[in-house]
Amino acid sequence: MKHLPRLGINIDHIATVRNARGGAHPDPVAGAYAAIRAGADGITAHLREDRRHMRDDDMVRLQQLCVSENIPLNMEMAATDEMLKIALDLKPKAVCIVPERREERTTEGGLDVDAGHNHITPIVRELTENGSRVSLFIEAVDPQIRAAARTGAAVVEFHTGAYAHALDDGSDEKAKDYLATFVKSAKLADELGLEVHFGHGLTFDNVGEIAAIPECMELNIGHFIIGEAIFLGIDDAIAEMRRIVTEARPS
Ligand code: PXP
Repeated sequence: MKHLPRLGINIDHIATVRNARGGAHPDPVAGAYAAIRAGADGITAHLREDRRHMRDDDMVRLQQLCVSENIPLNMEMAATDEMLKIALDLKPKAVCIVPERREERTTEGGLDVDAGHNHITPIVRELTENGSRVSLFIEAVDPQIRAAARTGAAVVEFHTGAYAHALDDGSDEKAKDYLATFVKSAKLADELGLEVHFGHGLTFDNVGEIAAIPECMELNIGHFIIGEAIFLGIDDAIAEMRRIVTEARPS
């Protein structure tokens, strides 16, 4: 039987649409419930410092939903004191530490774990001791992978944004280079005892090659799925992503 990567659905952009009008609709927690019914293996949500999409009470309601559905909530957060306190209180099954800049449109680039080792390591330890499985969102390069392993984190998530952009721009050679790096880096991370996830900018068109990497244990996908749900409905958008991932996976 094929070992399939888990599909984590990031529901941030349901909250983006809600916040455009400032009311309660569409409710990202109702969206998470729909994603779970449609076969999501996990729900991912990023509580940003500026609360541009998810809000504190969303995270509490998401955690309640995920616990009752026995589905992991993966909280994405910056390595700040404020977020650490929230995550320690919330106790999500998983936490993914990401870099964050107020002026960015989305998470641009990976976390510099190599330079930030002394700051990140105690946060990883506290979250892990509190029962969350910690992931670090990094670029797939040797020094970051080795630094991630030294923090004691259980997981690395490789940033696929630049790969997705290269394909969008028609830079196929560049995309091929990124892919080769992912393959090599996934092996290294696995050898160092890290579980390997991938995320950012993944679509029906570019997910296959990533899903085919044998060490890939989880994919976290948000913007494209939520956007495609407008046309297909969330059930069919998730089902189609699942179909492509399943087909791409080596047997
Ligand atoms: N993984 C991480 C760590 C992210 O920060 C994001 C974006 O919030 C995603 C995955 C999902 O990216 P996208 O919305 O482009 O699918």
